[in-house]
Amino acid sequence: MTQLTVDLGARSYPIRIGSGLINKAEEFTSIIKTKRVVVITNDTVKPIYLDTLLTSLADFDVSAFSLPDGEQYKTLDSFEKVNAYLLENNCGRDTTLVALGGGVIGDLVGFVAACYQRGVPFVQVPTTLLSQVDSSVGGKTAVNHPLGKNMIGAFKQPEAVVIDVDTLNTLPAREFAAGISEVLKYGLICDKAFWKSLIENQQQIKALEQSFLIDIIYKCCAIKADVVAQDEQERGVRALLNLGHTFGHAIEAEMGYGVWLHGEAVATGMVLAAKTSLNRGYISQADYDEIKQTIAAYDLPVDKPEEMDCSAFIKHMMRDKKVQNNVMRFILPSELGQSQLYADVTQQELEQVLDA
Ligand code: NAD
Ligand code: GLY
Repeated sequence: MTQLTVDLGARSYPIRIGSGLINKAEEFTSIIKTKRVVVITNDTVKPIYLDTLLTSLADFDVSAFSLPDGEQYKTLDSFEKVNAYLLENNCGRDTTLVALGGGVIGDLVGFVAACYQRGVPFVQVPTTLLSQVDSSVGGKTAVNHPLGKNMIGAFKQPEAVVIDVDTLNTLPAREFAAGISEVLKYGLICDKAFWKSLIENQQQIKALEQSFLIDIIYKCCAIKADVVAQDEQERGVRALLNLGHTFGHAIEAEMGYGVWLHGEAVATGMVLAAKTSLNRGYISQADYDEIKQTIAAYDLPVDKPEEMDCSAFIKHMMRDKKVQNNVMRFILPSELGQSQLYADVTQQELEQVLDA
């Protein structure tokens, strides 16, 4: 087991990464400080991992609640259902919630933990690659609104993140690829050597070789922990973690939540951001080709939905959380392995990228 810390003073917490962690009671007894524990999961993850986790939580007064699976259930309605379960079972503030699942469950449970009785502790047990490298770390929690992705939420840091890499063995290939999208993102934001290693080691990573998986998860969590420690509430550098997301969230919302996976939309979004950078002369044609080919080689989409034109993107992008004073702001590669925030991208530039 390897461990990192998200350094937020009194609210610092560990990220533990290893094999078989959900089978180990001490992973949880050493973290959870309340007697009462409620595990929240979904109907896909439940039959695979819930019993194992409940056995490891046997020292606690533990119960579980399961939601239907899918991005389309990351809603205020599901939020209400979890709150109702907690109230019906007389859960007080001395209850720890455990989010067992991917980013949908993690974001939703985190938001419940932020709100239920004005806040209860929670632990992230992420079971998708995407949630292990990104969503479980950093305390962004939310549900979707029909008019926009992650529009209702809160910052709420977990007590700990327990990453059991063995859970990736049951993850469908399409979901694994979606997780790789966020992994590639870290390379493009701030680490060219990491980016190159993801090209070099593609075969081993796609074959789920455990030492490679642990290495990339550790690297991504280390980058994210560092960014979050500098800028917990995204007033500056944390916005860089949104590379590809402005375009990607528009695709998710326009196509209907769950039609494009989040990671798939981000993958195409990163290609669109890279194209904008190419047109601005920040990256070379060879860099752009490398970005597009690498994303495609990890079985991710690189072309926007045909039916979405520039105006369809702009409609959603105007609601992006980075918009300030009615001006859209984009994270773009400033060179290969570096990204920056730009507030001067014009409609004409967007048309060149999105209507070409
Ligand atoms: P997800 O939670 O929908 O999980 C993907 C699928 O895999 C689901 O069908 C799930 O049931 C299944 N699954 C989960 N673990 C499994 C396992 N071990 N074996 C088999 N099946 C398994 O999707 P995701 O990609 O994990 O997360 C996407 C969500 O995360 C989006 O809502 C996105 O907005 C959010 N997100 C949040 C942040 C953040 O900082 N909070 C960052 C990135 C993404
Ligand atoms: N996934 C973007 C962030 O956590 O800030």
